[in-house]
Amino acid sequence: MSIAFLNDSYMPITEAKISPMDRGFLFGDGIYEVIPSYEGKLLGFNGHITRMQEGLAGIGLGLQWTHEDWETLCTKLASENGSGNLGIYLQVSRGADSKRYHAFPQDVAPTIFGFTFDIPASPVANKETAKRYTVSTSQDLRWQRCHIKSTALLGNVLHFQEGYSQGNDETLLYNDKNELTEASACNAFIVKDSVVITPPLDNQLLPGITRNMLVDILREDGSIRVEERPVTMDEVRTADEVWITSSTKEIGAVVSVDGAPVGDGQIGDIWLAAQTLFTQHKYDY
Ligand code: PDD
Repeated sequence: MSIAFLNDSYMPITEAKISPMDRGFLFGDGIYEVIPSYEGKLLGFNGHITRMQEGLAGIGLGLQWTHEDWETLCTKLASENGSGNLGIYLQVSRGADSKRYHAFPQDVAPTIFGFTFDIPASPVANKETAKRYTVSTSQDLRWQRCHIKSTALLGNVLHFQEGYSQGNDETLLYNDKNELTEASACNAFIVKDSVVITPPLDNQLLPGITRNMLVDILREDGSIRVEERPVTMDEVRTADEVWITSSTKEIGAVVSVDGAPVGDGQIGDIWLAAQTLFTQHKYDY
């Protein structure tokens, strides 16, 4: 039985109950995070908590929790749940009001929730064993604040389902200028002529912790050139490699976009070099 945290106590997940008046439930009014933990070792912890605190500030949700408070929670959740390969899900909503009213309520305590779920073992930089991802594409019809990791994920859910219903693992999204933004639950990269390129951070995409760590690791190493700049969908379709990144996938090599092979349809050499470097340096953050 998995152990969850709700507000101020730990309990079996089946005993964790929230009010239907919770604004997370009624409005999707909350912020969340997913942090991987491999054998009790948290990955990218500081980046995840800083992003959550920025998200909470961005939606005007005051919560006096420090990095240490979150670390205590994450460490306890991991150990209570067997310290294997876990995704730690954290969520803060604006709490349960007595009425359904759009304005922020006064004197309502936020709802704080955490639980864990099993994730695959830490990805390995090996072309033979790595998962080969396939993706669909779709115009990005989400909101204008995609840099906030909001629990209001219906736009992402609908986009994910588009790819899923076509037998694909993800959906790459593009704006009305035909430029790549991200994927429904991942950031996106292309490789062309050995240069790694990813869209710049702005309101159209989540500042992914994996994305940011990868860009940083590649720049520190210096052997592979990295550019953060707009990427057109024509560039995606003619790229040598396409990657999707997220905390639990790390760098996912995409071998087909809308049914057409990426490059020669095989996992590329730059992916191998990048995932190798990521594996070496990922606990430095
Ligand atoms: N998804 N973009 C979106 C829209 C995401 O939802 C995610 C993560 C990412 C990658 O961010 P990170 O590298 O920090 O995991 C990019 C999480 C894992 C989820 O919703 O389950």
